[in-house]
Amino acid sequence: MGGGNQMSALPVTADKTRYTLPAIGLHWVIALLIIGMLCLGYYMVGIPKGIPGRAVYFNLHKSLGVLAGALILLRLGWRLAHRPPPLPRATSRPMARAAQWSHGLLYLCMLLQPATGFLSSSFNKYGIKFFGLALPNWAWEDKHLRELFMSYHQSIAIAFIALIVIHVLAACKHLLIDRDRIFGRMLP
Ligand code: HEM
Ligand code: HEM
Repeated sequence: MGGGNQMSALPVTADKTRYTLPAIGLHWVIALLIIGMLCLGYYMVGIPKGIPGRAVYFNLHKSLGVLAGALILLRLGWRLAHRPPPLPRATSRPMARAAQWSHGLLYLCMLLQPATGFLSSSFNKYGIKFFGLALPNWAWEDKHLRELFMSYHQSIAIAFIALIVIHVLAACKHLLIDRDRIFGRMLP
């Protein structure tokens, strides 16, 4: 099943059973950013309007969100240009399907979450500042579009959390119960 070339034809250093270092680095940096952004998002929307410092959290959320979006695009580009390591031969077909689908849906959420946040904030009079630097304001003030994209942003956040929980449980199962090499493929 797309197992690829035999090891004998490759240089000793090319290990096709693991993710590459850039893929691993991007996976962990983005995972940390996303978990931090989910916490920050839910924390900041609970701050009552008019409290000094509220805007600081919103601006930080937008800046880190734009940074996460850029890193996610980089990661997707890398992923499209590089084949992931094939799953171990013993993996059952339903398990391989489950991994494929859950990873695909994680990528979809990784794209849609920053995109909907960006779009919602673009249709807001405050615009978006990237660590203090105002980004070009290509949109206009539009309450309906702002609220529409924000409702997507809120719903996708819930789906994202559910997928992350399933993903982490699956990773822990591989590490602690199956004790196979799946977890190690994503470690340097
Ligand atoms: C929180 C955000 C996270 C996201 C969005 C995420 C997303 C992904 C995606 C999309 C892949 C597939 C990589 C590819 O084929 O290109 C992957 C692989 C992996 N992730 Fe995560 N991940 C997250 C957090 C975590 C955490 C916290 C763990 C560990 C507890 C983890 C463990 C792994 C492992 C072990 C793999 C490799 C699976 C394999 O070899 O097929 N991830 N992750
Ligand atoms: C990985 C990226 C992101 C994650 C995980 C994330 C997560 C969240 C979460 C969990 C909330 C709270 C939702 C709720 O009230 O139910 C939120 C709110 C918000 N996000 Fe994001 N976000 C991301 C990217 C962005 C980006 C790129 C922007 C804009 C540039 C943005 C702008 C906002 C704004 C303005 C709110 C608050 C809206 C309100 O007033 O209720 N987010 N985000």
